[in-house]
Amino acid sequence: FDIGSLAAFLQYSRQMGQPINMITSQFNNVLAALAGAERIFDMMDQPPEKDGGRTTLARVDNADEWVWKKPDGETVPLRGDVRFHNVDFAYEPGKPVLHQVSLYAKPGQVIAFVGSTGAGKTTITNLINRFYDVQTGSITYDGIDVRDIRKESLRRSLGVVLQDTHLFTGTVLDNIRYGRLDASDEECIEAARQASAHSFISRLPEGYHTVISGDGANLSQGQRQLLAIARAYVADPPVMILDEATSSIDTRTERLVERGVQALMRGRTVFIIAHRLSTVRHANAIIVLEHGRIIERGNHEQLLAQKGRYYQLYTGKNQLE
Ligand SMILES: Nc1ncnc2c1ncn2[C@@H]1O[C@H](COP(=O)(O)OP(=O)(O)OP(=O)(O)O)[C@@H](O)[C@H]1O
Ligand SMILES: [Mg+2]
Repeated sequence: FDIGSLAAFLQYSRQMGQPINMITSQFNNVLAALAGAERIFDMMDQPPEKDGGRTTLARVDNADEWVWKKPDGETVPLRGDVRFHNVDFAYEPGKPVLHQVSLYAKPGQVIAFVGSTGAGKTTITNLINRFYDVQTGSITYDGIDVRDIRKESLRRSLGVVLQDTHLFTGTVLDNIRYGRLDASDEECIEAARQASAHSFISRLPEGYHTVISGDGANLSQGQRQLLAIARAYVADPPVMILDEATSSIDTRTERLVERGVQALMRGRTVFIIAHRLSTVRHANAIIVLEHGRIIERGNHEQLLAQKGRYYQLYTGKNQLE
């Protein structure tokens, strides 16, 4: 047969292969969707969280202030004072993770946690927002045992910026507003300015109306962090929990994130799991943890003078683990 029919044959066979390829790739999508669905059903099967809390958070009318409303009707202003009293904690019975942890954060103080991996830093923050409850000892928030506070109220008063931020499909503006659903456009933009996120947002194709897709895949990690900071800023919580990202981002963005975090911390009680010495240096108290125990505490100068673990971390290298 001639060259023309050979060409036609090749062309047709390619056309025939195409739908088969498509079926395979669609099939992969179906499998991924099934795996996702399975996880969703697993989630739905989880028993609801137990919550014995009866103290709730209420907003004072005509004022930007919050009060705790105790079960007996008494109200006390929300100040942001958090204390641990001899806390022991284990995720699994017989495997203690925290031993006799006592610490306090007065309103407006910045408390930094440092220590090697597995020391218990994240666990401490998990107890503050009651993802878990302490086994012995107690944690008080403005003098109220956190177990007496309704989880939903407690968490509304705590801002959290974690190492990786979850964004949803929607505009940049909506993603910031997620911090407080009744915030106006102006408030969201002001928050972005404070968070040092305004300049990169302005350079996006549609600015604040740019649609973020697939958990922020079209943004860099640093930019996602800046949005997380803006989101926390809009929520304006009296107490913040920050888990500093370890992975490296470019120095320019890094500086923006640092500036954003500094602005966010102002006037709040802050618990920060710090990986950068620049953040730790300015903390009111640095708490050094090892194997679930507090082994050193003090400010930067005091701990350096002590020539202990912190000194080792600080002089050993520039990054804390
Ligand atoms: N959900 C969990 N269930 C059981 N054990 C856990 C759980 N989360 C943490 N642990 C254990 O508790 C200990 C403290 O972990 P934690 O996550 O608080 O450490 P970390 O100081 O935050 O470490 P990193 O710097 O790696 O984040 C570790 O031994 C860890 O294996
Ligand atoms: Mg951790």
